[in-house]
Amino acid sequence: MAQDFSAMTKRAVILDCDPGQDDAVAILLALASKDDIDLLGITTVAGNVPLGLTESNARRICELAGRPDMKVFAGASQPLMRKLVTAEWIHGRTGLDGANLPDPTMPLQEQHSVDFIIDTCRTASDGSITLCPIGPMTNLALAFMKAPDIVPKVQEIVCMGGAVKEFGNTTPAAEFNIYVDPQAAKVVLDTGIKLTMMPLDVTHKALVTPERLQRMKDLNSPVGDVCGGMLDYFNRFDMTRYGFDGGPLHDPCVIAYLIKPELFSGRNVFMDIEVTSELTMGQTLADWWDIQEKEPNAYICDDLDVEGFFDLLIQRLAVFG
Ligand code: BDR
Ligand code: CA
Repeated sequence: MAQDFSAMTKRAVILDCDPGQDDAVAILLALASKDDIDLLGITTVAGNVPLGLTESNARRICELAGRPDMKVFAGASQPLMRKLVTAEWIHGRTGLDGANLPDPTMPLQEQHSVDFIIDTCRTASDGSITLCPIGPMTNLALAFMKAPDIVPKVQEIVCMGGAVKEFGNTTPAAEFNIYVDPQAAKVVLDTGIKLTMMPLDVTHKALVTPERLQRMKDLNSPVGDVCGGMLDYFNRFDMTRYGFDGGPLHDPCVIAYLIKPELFSGRNVFMDIEVTSELTMGQTLADWWDIQEKEPNAYICDDLDVEGFFDLLIQRLAVFG
């Protein structure tokens, strides 16, 4: 089902992330897309690896992109109520294994991610900010809990998370970002802000096959080399575990949606999130067939134009030279 995007203009975006190789590509895609995205700041959260690594990895990627001026903030170091679960088994010890980037020299902002989100929203006009969480949603939940007055300032939340018709990738029921902080995801969902979600149903189609990886390496640039190296590393897990033809570029789907939403299709549905059962903790339960006839509260993507997505990504990565 297609949405009407005719009135869309350049978006003012806060990218909330836990780099992570696929987060890193999402950051690069956002930085390469100045005509489509006004990136106000990058907020980081504990997720794929602990906070000290996610914030320094975000800075490493900004420096790689020649953007040491970008504001990078550190946020929550643990989920709202649960013990932090990390994913070194996928991303490696550093979170960016395979990238081989030096330690960053650009500063980390002193302000906490949550306060940056609140202050930015408070000074914005109604319906003008797009929030893009591509890690656990702890920072966003804390911002809405601390400052519920910012809710009207948000135009849309476009997130990577969940698994609707797919199985989970962290438990049989749950996808990583939602599993790590399900209570936070529920707080965010319950704000009632327009939510667009990229679950595993769509991201498991955005596979970095050997041919697509080669296209990145053929950019013959520092960005192309780093993407080649880190995605080579990232690919190995999903190719071995799932027998996929490549690793899924989960998080860049969110940024690609901001730029070219017509690449994606999905459905407006009612969704809820499991926050009590240990067995199915973090499951995203979407009423795909409208069995309950409840008012939809999320637009959930389940398909994309894969070639269009990779053409967009590689064209944009080429701007770094
Ligand atoms: C999500 O979890 C992380 O491992 C990735 O960065 C992505 O955001 C996929 O389940
Ligand atoms: Ca992520």
